[in-house]
Amino acid sequence: MKDIYYVGYVDWEVRNFHGYSTHKGSSYNAYIVKSGENTVLIDTVKRPYFEHFLKNIKEVCDPSEINYFITNHVEMDHSGSFPLIIKHLPNAELIASERGVDVLKAHFHQEVEEDLFNRIRAVKEGDTLDIGNGKKFTFVPIPMIHWPDSMVSFMTDEIGKNALFSNDAFGQHYATSKRWDDENDLCEVMQEAEKYYANILLHLSGIIAKVLPKVGALPIDVICTSHGVCWRTHIGEIVEAYTKWCKGEIEENSVLIVYDTMWGSTEKIAKALSDQISHRGIPVKRFRLTYADYSDVITEAMKARAILIGSPTLNNGLFPSVAEYISYQKGLKPMNKVGFAFGSYGWGGGAVKEIVEVMKATKIDVMEETIEIKFVPRPEDLDFKEIINKLVEKMGGN
Ligand code: FEO
Repeated sequence: MKDIYYVGYVDWEVRNFHGYSTHKGSSYNAYIVKSGENTVLIDTVKRPYFEHFLKNIKEVCDPSEINYFITNHVEMDHSGSFPLIIKHLPNAELIASERGVDVLKAHFHQEVEEDLFNRIRAVKEGDTLDIGNGKKFTFVPIPMIHWPDSMVSFMTDEIGKNALFSNDAFGQHYATSKRWDDENDLCEVMQEAEKYYANILLHLSGIIAKVLPKVGALPIDVICTSHGVCWRTHIGEIVEAYTKWCKGEIEENSVLIVYDTMWGSTEKIAKALSDQISHRGIPVKRFRLTYADYSDVITEAMKARAILIGSPTLNNGLFPSVAEYISYQKGLKPMNKVGFAFGSYGWGGGAVKEIVEVMKATKIDVMEETIEIKFVPRPEDLDFKEIINKLVEKMGGN
């Protein structure tokens, strides 16, 4: 786009982003904005890709021409190259949020302390930076989206496009050689935006609900994200999707069944529940955690009305894969859910009780009724009509 240059790194290889599966890679987007009078660098890339980042910058300008360097967020995917790039920017004023300055120090210590002391400006909400020729940045801290230091930089442009540099917000872990939303498969992009929200932002929904109207009210022409594609044609769709996700709205009254199995008993229960619920005309998705990826499963959990979790009892507690998933779900706190626990055991039991306790702790409306079957269920043990009636009633009917 005129006056805005992409200098980031598209990471086609990454398949795990701090525990979140990135089946389609990612990108660490960084930008240069030129006004004719000033040159601004926004964000960096992961440290291993610094040389690529520097080469990209040199294709746009001599780094010594950069007057301002904005850090919207200090997490290492965006600031990993910070200590390296500032050595190439002798004439740049550094800009970050007030919390961002502290977080930069806490990450890079003596590697950057002198620069932070001598040439950093800590900005607060509404502070501006006029770079000439009608271009002006306004800084808007968005604490906890994704970290306490996070902010967005909104550039109004009297002769060009108003651009929101949104950092993590509206991003997707999605590698593509095409930068814009309308140049990519929108369905695929929205799926990755949804997965990103479920895995990174879901537990921050209350804060997002407060900040989103403020961001949505800005006269934005383009959103330059820090991961995946940038938005210019479908801004309304992504803001509307965030509005829905942060309120915990669901599209249909559906059921998610998540379980694992040791000798097949819990799986028999899971399959019987799945068959009998779907025969009622209720959409069901069923995932066995031995094979399913928990970052995909939590994305489904965000969309479902009811979450049914099943585990065999192992050592008086949860099966390890179920323990891992339930811990992940506990942290991300899906909203407005009905919960139900089921499982099998040999003698003492324990797994089902733990599932109920964890779901209650995260404000899931858990059914008091459970299914717990000793050793192997008989066919007559697998008729769950009554319990499904109660589930459907709790879900608000179908
Ligand atoms: Fe993309 Fe919170 O870092």
